[in-house]
Amino acid sequence: MVPRYLINFDLNEIKKKSFDFIVVGSGAAGLTAALELGQQGQVALLTKGEVKESNTKYAQGGVAATFSPEDRTRFHYRDTLLAGDGLCNPKAVKTLVEEGPTVIKRLIEEGAKFDRKKGKVALTKEGGHSHRRVLHAGGDATGRELSDFLIYNSLYNKNIEIFENTFAVDLISDENGVYGLLAYDKLKGEYLLYLAKAVVLATGGIGQLYKNTSNPQLATGDGVAMAYRAGAEVMDMEFIQFHPTTLALEGANNFLLSEALRGEGGILRNSKGEIFMDRYHPLKELAPRDIVARAIYHQMEKEGSSNLYLDLSHLDNDFIKGRFPTIYNKCLSLGLDISKDQIPITPAAHYFMGGIKVDLFGRSSLKGLFACGEAASFGLHGANRLASNSLLETLVYGERVAKGALDYTKKAKIRWARLDLNLRKDIGDNICFKDIREELQGLTEEKLGIIRSKEGLKEALDKLEDLLAILEKDLRKVEGFELQNLITLAYLITKGALMREESRGAHYRLDFNKSKERWKRHIVMKLEQRWEELKVEFE
Ligand code: FAD
Ligand code: SIN
Repeated sequence: MVPRYLINFDLNEIKKKSFDFIVVGSGAAGLTAALELGQQGQVALLTKGEVKESNTKYAQGGVAATFSPEDRTRFHYRDTLLAGDGLCNPKAVKTLVEEGPTVIKRLIEEGAKFDRKKGKVALTKEGGHSHRRVLHAGGDATGRELSDFLIYNSLYNKNIEIFENTFAVDLISDENGVYGLLAYDKLKGEYLLYLAKAVVLATGGIGQLYKNTSNPQLATGDGVAMAYRAGAEVMDMEFIQFHPTTLALEGANNFLLSEALRGEGGILRNSKGEIFMDRYHPLKELAPRDIVARAIYHQMEKEGSSNLYLDLSHLDNDFIKGRFPTIYNKCLSLGLDISKDQIPITPAAHYFMGGIKVDLFGRSSLKGLFACGEAASFGLHGANRLASNSLLETLVYGERVAKGALDYTKKAKIRWARLDLNLRKDIGDNICFKDIREELQGLTEEKLGIIRSKEGLKEALDKLEDLLAILEKDLRKVEGFELQNLITLAYLITKGALMREESRGAHYRLDFNKSKERWKRHIVMKLEQRWEELKVEFE
């Protein structure tokens, strides 16, 4: 049986706090939603670390939006659909590209800083974009600048109460929908029940499922797993984007080397120093990300090497230092001068196109539950996200989810029911979370990576079926909850990847290496009583 909740508990004995809205996650999506909701009611913003910790903070390249006089929103629309490889939801894309510039202009008026050139916002290029349309800040510190700006505004909003080090464990729901959230205060070591009229999950991505990832430690997909446990539909689980260029140096932890480096002229070379991207796509280094990542993987396999190279040595030194200060300094601290040296690179897990299935106002299939940002999925990115569309999504859809939640709460009330959930789960005292997490990361890296096959996926499924037993334990620790969430997601991703007998976007199968017309649809999954009864629908 799949446990509905991760721990044994009795709600009657847990301290309670009531708000109009709960937002989980302090990345750009959660902060944007909280700022909007804070205009209408009391918001609890929960985040599992410090408020400034998120994937958002590490974003480098920028935010894509039509600002150049030569560009048009219809070009941005077309580029997004092309990158998405036939699986984008056109309405979602249209909304994104049309509302994006207005949202960004408003942020600029409110004081958000973006780099400028000759009095106008500076625009760079990234893979799959037909025009220069990526706004950036602090050179390559776009995420940090944006996150600081949103946090600053949230701190000054008296309707938003921020709860740091507060780990969301499970949604509390009944047949009338979601009405609260069980959270664990990491500093006090106590559980709390947050009650609200609506819950917004903005818990970000799942990069930590993989051994090699550009994502920080916090990216364990908790929101998606908890929504699934609560009975919400999840979608597109098989689509995971691998970024082509992360730093392949010891101690670098797959530090991201922004696509903007290629946008400004960086070239990929194999171990012999040869250029090779022209053999894979007419856009060469600036082809959509899935194509570049696969080309690098293919070259590495051919050469038997564990990395290739990014070459910036032909670019102006001062330009590199000024335009990419974070990357330049990070590499220098590891003994590499990117303005001169060849930079060793390898692809790594970067972005999750799947997530909690929502509509264009962030409404999930459960009443009272909403989602936005990387945790949500509504087909915006299709099978492969266009570079720098994610930050734009957090801003545009962060606002829209607030509208959806506000609308819902006009009729909803804060309520709570007595709930004694002594599930009598065994206490998993003897489980070494670290060892199992590493084992899982190795498995996903090998079997659920850039190249997949039926055989590999079946092997992964067998292993995961054994690991599912861990979900039956009460692990009582954040590392344990994260592990349980990662196992849940790995299982769903494997199921989806096995089912999708074709190659499309970021999902590439050796045994079905072409896209198929009949697979131009989304796989939607929902929990039934047992794992074996996982309900699957196609859209
Ligand atoms: P996040 O920013 O990841 O925030 C999630 C939040 O949820 C965090 O605060 C986390 O602590 C919290 N949380 C998670 N689980 C729990 C829990 N159980 N309880 C409580 N809190 C929880 N995209 C672009 O468009 N442009 C770029 O230039 C770009 N560069 C990137 C560079 C890097 C290195 C990375 C990793 C990603 C990059 N991306 C970029 C992708 C983009 O940054 C993310 O997709 C986006 O920031 C996601 O925002 P979010 O608000 O949905 O989630
Ligand atoms: C990057 O800077 O390459 C990341 C951009 C993105 O993920 O959209």
